[in-house]
Amino acid sequence: MENEKRNASETACTVTRRDFVKASAAAISVGAIASPGWANIQGSDRIRVGLVGCGGRGTGAASQALNADPGVVLTAMGDLFGDRISASLGHLTNHAGDRVDVPPERRFLGFDAHKHVLDNVDVIILTTPPHFRPMQLKAAIDAGKHVFAEKPMAVDAPGVRSVLASAAKAKRKGLSLMSGFCWRYSFAERAMFKKLHAGAIGDITSMHTTYHTGPLHKNPRQAGWSDMEFQLRNWVHFTWLSGDHIVEQACHAVDWINWAMDGLMPIRATALGGRQMREGPETGNVYDHFAVIYEYENGARCFHTCRQMPHCSGDNTAYVMGTKGKCSMNPWSPAHVITGENPWRYEGDRPNMYQVEHDELFAAIRAGTPVNDGVFMANSTMMSILGRTAAYSGGTVMWDEALASAEDYSPSSYEMGDLPFPPVPVPGQPSPVAVPQTDSVGDGG
Ligand SMILES: NC(=O)c1ccc[n+]([C@@H]2O[C@H](COP(=O)([O-])OP(=O)(O)OC[C@H]3O[C@@H](n4cnc5c(N)ncnc54)[C@H](O)[C@@H]3O)[C@@H](O)[C@H]2O)c1
Repeated sequence: MENEKRNASETACTVTRRDFVKASAAAISVGAIASPGWANIQGSDRIRVGLVGCGGRGTGAASQALNADPGVVLTAMGDLFGDRISASLGHLTNHAGDRVDVPPERRFLGFDAHKHVLDNVDVIILTTPPHFRPMQLKAAIDAGKHVFAEKPMAVDAPGVRSVLASAAKAKRKGLSLMSGFCWRYSFAERAMFKKLHAGAIGDITSMHTTYHTGPLHKNPRQAGWSDMEFQLRNWVHFTWLSGDHIVEQACHAVDWINWAMDGLMPIRATALGGRQMREGPETGNVYDHFAVIYEYENGARCFHTCRQMPHCSGDNTAYVMGTKGKCSMNPWSPAHVITGENPWRYEGDRPNMYQVEHDELFAAIRAGTPVNDGVFMANSTMMSILGRTAAYSGGTVMWDEALASAEDYSPSSYEMGDLPFPPVPVPGQPSPVAVPQTDSVGDGG
């Protein structure tokens, strides 16, 4: 029940969490810098928006962009698969038909679809699997476009470093870069973390965040699907595409730790994890549970646990312990409560955070006051990758080493053809090649 509630909750403000087809289908303000990226969007001007990755979240995000500003027009879409564009376009046309202007010649397919979308827009929404985020974000910022990019930002350290470089470039160019770390746009979370930063519970000594939920959908292999297509259609289950569920899904709860610690990164992490209940080739090579200990230079220890298992209890909460009190936050109940010397409970408004993201993004673009989520979105992604690396390796992994790592999860080429199946990592064993380049490993189905 709890799991169902959790899954439904994550979808609540998207079109659906995962399967649109079946269902029907802290920001860093930077000063205004004169830049063609936004200076040409003023007053009531039309803002051309493009969508790359036309699945559940992308369709939801495009709807929210259309709601955010009457001048928004969806002008281009890109995906790997025509069926995803058709389903998404159908929904968006029903939602805001007069401002959906995507004729066939502006619907792009293929691994370079984002480049063609970029030629036709002022703002781009990036909602593909996270593997592709760093390269697509780089292309967007190089092209001088404003970006809404879903979380997480990358699946490996080279990807995180690329995202940091793109975020810095966006800042120099005066472009807005907003992330899909949506809790950063929730009024209740903002109020609660502001209280923590103001010392409501004193110094934070430890914290535990949870993301205990059920498994995500699987797509059985269809006739004619290549290995690459099969893995892409089941991308959440392949580490090279999703980063594993601690990075892909639970990064929200890891971000709460980053937020509570006010951007302080851990010095090292130790983690346990494994794969007990996943079955079938569709479930790729990801784990189904992780437990991470993050250690800080100031002596604080923060813990994160996540699992995707059926028939188990669910939880998605942050528990924060300080020298003057405690705080617990379950955004779904919803309850944001501080006890101790300075008791407090959030009782303010709770507008849809997914809509707030886009309202703030387009207001920033209009006002010429760019938002830039670059540092926290990269750091929360990297903290999740650090936890995964510690679990996969069985070792204690230093932040600096993990961030400098050369382990690159990219395949040798992007083609709809043969692609060996990656192995399941075994703690204490040498790290497997992220995506095998030669010999096939495991059951490819
Ligand atoms: N913030 C949130 O609450 C939230 C909720 C759900 C998903 N997400 C994130 O949004 C992203 C998308 O998730 P989703 O649930 O919509 O997945 P999805 O599978 O429904 O959609 C992804 C789409 O991207 C397409 N795609 C894959 N590779 C591509 C490429 N190289 N170029 C163009 N298109 C490509 C797929 O064909 C698919 O249509 C993920 O990063 C996920 O973590 C965030």
